[in-house]
Amino acid sequence: MRHTLLLAILLGLTLPALAQNRSGQGDVREIYDANCAGCHGDDLAGGSGSSLIDDVWLNGSRDDQIAHAIRVGVVDMGMPGWQDTLSDEQIRALVIFIREMKAKSESGALEKRLQGNIVNAAGHRYRLEEVGEGDSMLWSIAFLPDGSRLVTQRDGVLWHFEDGKRSAVEGTPEVWQHGQGGLLEVAPHPDYAENGWVYLSYSENTGAMENDKDAGMTTVVRGRIETGLWVDQERLFRSDGEHHTSSGAHFGSRFVFDGGYLFFSIGDRGRKERSQDLDRPSGKILRIHDDGRVPADNPFVGVAGALPEIWSYGHRNPQGMDRDPATGLMWESEHGPRGGDEINVVERGKNYGWPVITHGMNYNGTPITDETHREGMEQPKLHWTPSIAVAGIDFYEGDAFPGWKGKLLAGGMASEELHLLTVSDGSVTKDVVVLKGRGRIRDVASGPDGFIYLLLNDGSPRTGRIVRMVPAD
Ligand code: HEC
Repeated sequence: MRHTLLLAILLGLTLPALAQNRSGQGDVREIYDANCAGCHGDDLAGGSGSSLIDDVWLNGSRDDQIAHAIRVGVVDMGMPGWQDTLSDEQIRALVIFIREMKAKSESGALEKRLQGNIVNAAGHRYRLEEVGEGDSMLWSIAFLPDGSRLVTQRDGVLWHFEDGKRSAVEGTPEVWQHGQGGLLEVAPHPDYAENGWVYLSYSENTGAMENDKDAGMTTVVRGRIETGLWVDQERLFRSDGEHHTSSGAHFGSRFVFDGGYLFFSIGDRGRKERSQDLDRPSGKILRIHDDGRVPADNPFVGVAGALPEIWSYGHRNPQGMDRDPATGLMWESEHGPRGGDEINVVERGKNYGWPVITHGMNYNGTPITDETHREGMEQPKLHWTPSIAVAGIDFYEGDAFPGWKGKLLAGGMASEELHLLTVSDGSVTKDVVVLKGRGRIRDVASGPDGFIYLLLNDGSPRTGRIVRMVPAD
């Protein structure tokens, strides 16, 4: 930093010019250190300027109000305005950074409060019970009508846990193990007891290449399990090779069954602009009949160039989906970049904005855009900035924790948090962390026994455990 400054002075650059210069690649921490730390402190806890992490906001607590204070300053209090020095995108990145630092300062206390063998949270006391483990990373959990559990292991194993024993289902499709790809979602058909169908999503390489590298995409199949064997497989969705990418990022994917339809998600596959392209399946929620046929009333059927399976678009990486049993609304969680993890209500034909609008910034602390809103693009019902690294979501439908019934459980990987969201009329009215610091939560499911099941992944290489929350009283 000092060297750059010295160099800049030697080169005769003015300070504002230096800051503008840095805007292309400047990390938000460097921007803060260079311009703000002198008055607000290295840790943002205050100096001659006030603390930015104490939740006291004299000029308004909303993101846009904080951005405004930075832009125009609080001149009569000694806070200069930064609009001539920093771009709107950089100021937006500073707001995200301030939110991150505040969450960080509180994270330790929250984790401490939720430790111990018996945890008291949101009106209930629970303890954790370990009920199974994988050989490597676990991804998705689902229940069969007999109470036994199907669990995907990302490297390609479908486990069946029954009466305390586990067995691998033989003959499931070969997966393309690449980055975040592998064997992903598993769910039985709602009428499984009659038809025996089990649905899987996974990343697949069908021989496609991108820039001379192997490329892959998310595929959806269904099959049946008979005496430990995967049989009767039918492929329900696979996209053309031109949509496959060599990226290891953002395959999605989750399922929701509703009224004979299967909704499923695919992430942007590391090519963010494709989320806005209606001729591509990435960055979308798609809707097909449960046997794979394309519904004639999908929103983009008959639109030239558009893929008829698309239900909604502008998604980044949807990692959780569930239908609210009370209202029928479809809720979704998706990964933002650094900041801007979202909880959305997914509606027919709508555009969720990625990457045109976002509440986050790039992972390296450089801005993506200062635009968080735009006409014609949906706002999340809730966004986490900083990101919790959202994963599976599930409405709690059991009786073991009566006060939580009908609320939405949302897991976080990086934050190792389980959030309990109160939703009403399609909005989130409360967000409480009920579990923290027990491992990266990849999936959460309300079990038929009323207990809450979590897939936790820890260690290096990451290895999964199945843990359930049971009432402590
Ligand atoms: C010369 C000292 C100084 C510098 C440099 C400075 N600030 Fe401030 N800042 C202040 C003072 C003084 C206030 C207003 C009084 C207060 O809130 O204590 C303030 C207020 C603010 C507020 C509004 C706080 C509220 O309660 O509403 C924000 C946000 C803020 N500063 C952010 C920044 C950021 C970001 C930077 C760097 C780009 C920065 N400041 C640089 C001194 C400074």
